[in-house]
Amino acid sequence: MTTRILTGITTTGTPHLGNYAGAIRPAIVASQQPGVDSFYFLADYHALIKCDDPLRIQRSRLEIAATWLAGGLDPAKVTFYRQSDIPEIPELTWLLTCVAAKGLLNRAHAYKASVDKNLETGEDPDAGVTMGLYSYPVLMAADILMFNANKVPVGRDQIQHVEMARDIGQRFNHLFGQGSDFFALPEAVIEESVATLPGLDGRKMSKSYDNTIPLFTSAKDMKDAISRIVTDSRAPGEAKDPDNSHLFTLFQAFSTPSQCAEFREELLQGLGWGEAKQRLFQLLDGQLAEKREHYHQLISRPADLEDILLAGAAKARKTATPFLEQLREAVGLRSFRSSVQASTEVKKKAAKSARFVSFRDEDGSFRFRLLAADGEQLLLSRSFADGKSAGAVSKQLQQGGDADVRVDGLGFSLWLNDEQVADGPQFDSAEARDSAIESLRVALQPQQD
Ligand code: TRP
Repeated sequence: MTTRILTGITTTGTPHLGNYAGAIRPAIVASQQPGVDSFYFLADYHALIKCDDPLRIQRSRLEIAATWLAGGLDPAKVTFYRQSDIPEIPELTWLLTCVAAKGLLNRAHAYKASVDKNLETGEDPDAGVTMGLYSYPVLMAADILMFNANKVPVGRDQIQHVEMARDIGQRFNHLFGQGSDFFALPEAVIEESVATLPGLDGRKMSKSYDNTIPLFTSAKDMKDAISRIVTDSRAPGEAKDPDNSHLFTLFQAFSTPSQCAEFREELLQGLGWGEAKQRLFQLLDGQLAEKREHYHQLISRPADLEDILLAGAAKARKTATPFLEQLREAVGLRSFRSSVQASTEVKKKAAKSARFVSFRDEDGSFRFRLLAADGEQLLLSRSFADGKSAGAVSKQLQQGGDADVRVDGLGFSLWLNDEQVADGPQFDSAEARDSAIESLRVALQPQQD
């Protein structure tokens, strides 16, 4: 069985080394494993929640798309698309919004953090909180559930969102699944082996700390950033402590074990920090130069990127469009035409084949049965003293007389002019009983043709 892996990348920034080592590289490696079917997408609807600068959104989408492709993602092997090219996503978001408990969303960390901050500063609790922020987890649930993802690789801050997707999916299954589940329930995957990279100052590399090393912008920018890595003040010749050096941690994230061991040894032997930075630059440049060039080629041909992403969207929609159609059906958003057709089809079929069979009981009384197409007994009449009255009742039923069905436990009875005229069988479940009643109703509908 193939495992479906899905993850989204919010398009608000330019990828840096930390994004690459922590998310992009492991995801590309995972997509190359056998037995996986990967869905990677640009979460540009999510980006709108965090950013109201159109140029930045536009730029970031382009840069992130180019980064993934330059990093080695094969769009023929994975499904790579922009969230905003899949109209089924916002539509599913609405279906899920209608089953998502408000109390669940009240507990989302990102929303709660904004409220807490407002309370601290004496503001209205909801100051600056948009419905986008509030509903962020529902949109994310739609991303995940739309493609029945099994595994969702995310950072720790997103675990809660994946759990909410499970919760919402489960609820939808329960309400509309009728025993067969629509949605697979996703699991968050946290890459324990991927250390979060330290930035220039040793804190986690993050745009919000302004301590990042750019990934693909230019070799010079990368060199400049590396020169700003904070080190201790040990002079060249003095032994360095690799385990307390984030420069070493960065080196380790990109080196083979033997390169790493060699570098460690050199530091212990007193390699100067200036030299050490030069080594780090060479290591990174060696690994990234070719990809960087590819990146710049891609960026310079945005129309080609557009084509790749539109092809990805078309591929994704091959799954999304028919699936959403099923979900719409499930909640009752059905075409009038198809539901009329469906019911007349059933009607014709049932009516054509349902038949009344009269017989004489052992005690000499007269009765009839109504048999469905497959011979299943839909009704057994009560006893009539003579054949004529039995015949009159069955005729009335055939002509669409005003019979009404009364449910009685797991069985039902049929009444004509307030008189009980027949019984249905006993069923094992209310569903089976109701579906027999439905067939009976269809069988008893007067024929138009
Ligand atoms: N919210 C995620 C983040 O900020 C991005 C994202 C959007 C996502 N939709 C997703 C991740 C679906 C995984 C699955 O990192």
